[in-house]
Amino acid sequence: SAAEKDGHDWFMRKEIFEQPRAVADSLLGRRTAEGLLQLDEVRLSDDELRDIDKIIIIACGTSFYAGMVAKYAIEHWCRIPVEVELASEFRYRDPILTRETLVVAISQSGETADTLQAIRHARVQKSKVLAICNTNGSTIPRESDAVIYTHAGPEIGVASTKGFLTQLVACYLLALYLAQVKGTRYGDEINEWMDHLEAMPAHIEKVLESAEEIYELARSHKETKSVLFLGRHAGYPVALEGALKLKELAYIHAEGFAAGELKHGPIALIAEGLPVLCVVPPRGRDQLHEKMISGIQEVRARGAHTICLAEEGDEKILPYADKLITLPKVPVLLQPLVAAVPLQLFACELATAMGNDVDQPRNLAKSVTVE
Ligand code: G6P
Repeated sequence: SAAEKDGHDWFMRKEIFEQPRAVADSLLGRRTAEGLLQLDEVRLSDDELRDIDKIIIIACGTSFYAGMVAKYAIEHWCRIPVEVELASEFRYRDPILTRETLVVAISQSGETADTLQAIRHARVQKSKVLAICNTNGSTIPRESDAVIYTHAGPEIGVASTKGFLTQLVACYLLALYLAQVKGTRYGDEINEWMDHLEAMPAHIEKVLESAEEIYELARSHKETKSVLFLGRHAGYPVALEGALKLKELAYIHAEGFAAGELKHGPIALIAEGLPVLCVVPPRGRDQLHEKMISGIQEVRARGAHTICLAEEGDEKILPYADKLITLPKVPVLLQPLVAAVPLQLFACELATAMGNDVDQPRNLAKSVTVE
């Protein structure tokens, strides 16, 4: 009923708007009075964690994209090599697992068969398994050595939204916690990142305030047959997630690419009028921002209609953006928390305009319990 949906037409839309609260809840109680990061649910000793020499993240669907973001964060903060692997591929390729390998399984439902079989395989090889999960007492956390629960609350829409954002939060927390334990980052810096994280609910709220503008954009794409998404660095998994949302909900061809890879093939897809959604990294000392802009310039010169998500005050993007959606100013590693939101709104509204069932897309299930 509309009441259960808080007056929204779909659970998905309600869940998109719950994200500031879900992110805030997932951050709650993580700092001690002494300013240390604590994760009660991580029942692995500091010694065990210090011995970890490799991390393999395993997940499916949207959760896999959260894992891709986690790789950027963990490698940057902790200097531990991270592989991210689709659960369905993992155990069939004879992966190298030792007692010093930490396998991180990300699953909103905690019941995905591909992910469950993968962690069973890892545990037989004596690796430690940590689950990031939204469902208390579900199978994957029960079969893991440790768990970080996300606090999104029940997610009913089949396409994951608040599940994804809270998984990102759990991944950042895990990365900072490992950095603290391993001593690769110190208190002040960890606290600064926690401050950034704690500012995210307000930033997400700000993005949600521009929903109407994104809806209008989405409705104007009702006849679109194909949409491309471009991103770099942590924006690359966001591009993949944006494309997945469109496939799931609008049933149209959508593909995400690493912007730097365009010139190695995908640029051949660009045709007059093709919508290209670009997740523009924040301006910074590295050249990410400039390189992204030159990629956008390339597709636009070939006729693409560019829709750019860029931080407020970014003037360099203006000449190349046919449509601009502004994002709050946040560090690049955390940008997925704000950049994913307009893409969720876009997919939800486009699917609604097409007359699709947003909460129950065709052929999909909320949790897939068969391999
Ligand atoms: C299904 C859902 C996706 C979800 C994936 C992984 O395919 O339709 O939305 O991302 O499973 O689910 P999990 O519960 O393991 O995160």
